[in-house]
Amino acid sequence: MNHFLDIHTTDAADLRGMIDQAAAMKTARNGRPKAAPDDDQPLAGRMVALIFEKPSTRTRVSFDVGVRQMGGQTMILSGADMQLGHGETIADTARVLSRYVDLIMIRTFEESVLHELAEYSSVPVINGLTNRTHPCQIMADVLTYEEHRGPIAGKRVVWSGDGNNVCASMLHAAGQFGFDLTFTGPQTLDPENEWVRYARDKGRDVQIVRDPMQAVQGADLIVTDTWVSMHDSQSTRERRHNQLRPYQVNERLMAEAKPDALFMHCLPAHRDEEVTSEVMDGPQSVIWDEAENRLHAQKAVMRWCLGV
Ligand code: CP
Repeated sequence: MNHFLDIHTTDAADLRGMIDQAAAMKTARNGRPKAAPDDDQPLAGRMVALIFEKPSTRTRVSFDVGVRQMGGQTMILSGADMQLGHGETIADTARVLSRYVDLIMIRTFEESVLHELAEYSSVPVINGLTNRTHPCQIMADVLTYEEHRGPIAGKRVVWSGDGNNVCASMLHAAGQFGFDLTFTGPQTLDPENEWVRYARDKGRDVQIVRDPMQAVQGADLIVTDTWVSMHDSQSTRERRHNQLRPYQVNERLMAEAKPDALFMHCLPAHRDEEVTSEVMDGPQSVIWDEAENRLHAQKAVMRWCLGV
């Protein structure tokens, strides 16, 4: 059974196949209305459960629309409204849901919840974000880079700011898709050593550079994310703002990268905090394509999970 739990635990050839299929499916829709069904209906007769234990705009809407375009049906479930939020075990929830639905996507806090759900589910499970990783986002990022600039292999991605869960999946993608990565941010917010080691062991050049101006030299893509994550406390928020201010992506920083460098942000953004509005709305920004590509990338992920 094909669970899509993380990029580093998925076969590299399968990942490449998903990106290529996502690009082809995007092209095939060719400006059709959003609700128009795809020509083929690979999810016809399938039910997909979308479980959210955290807020979401992009993940919720893109999965829901993607399933409908492919002919399937969705049910969106809030963790708090399920018995899961009132003491039913994850294992029992997985066993029961598997009797009703064909595929489960979950956004949750602890990675252990995702893994336990997958262990006891008899239908595929997709990681829609945990505190530790966000693989669907990075599949969309790879698709976005390649549709603008061609193969991402051999390119240099610079991650500026917090070495968070999205950065973790970017490091996994570096290993699997063959690009190099520079992290620039304060030492206390470095990405997990395990993920840095993972990408290096796969032969990638992973640098940690404290000076952001130096870090972005030669960058093909600059990426950042909010300075505080959904699970961070108020005291963490204030400390983060002070620590991360030097790592704001602004026009001065973009000017130090390659002239054709792109800018990405998984969104939602806090304008004029981690990135200025000039960069977000500027010519190097591809953030709206990136958001749209959640839809196309996840459609390919779901097809892979179901083998359809
Ligand atoms: N980037 C992302 O996952 O967005 P949402 O939190 O809105 O789903």
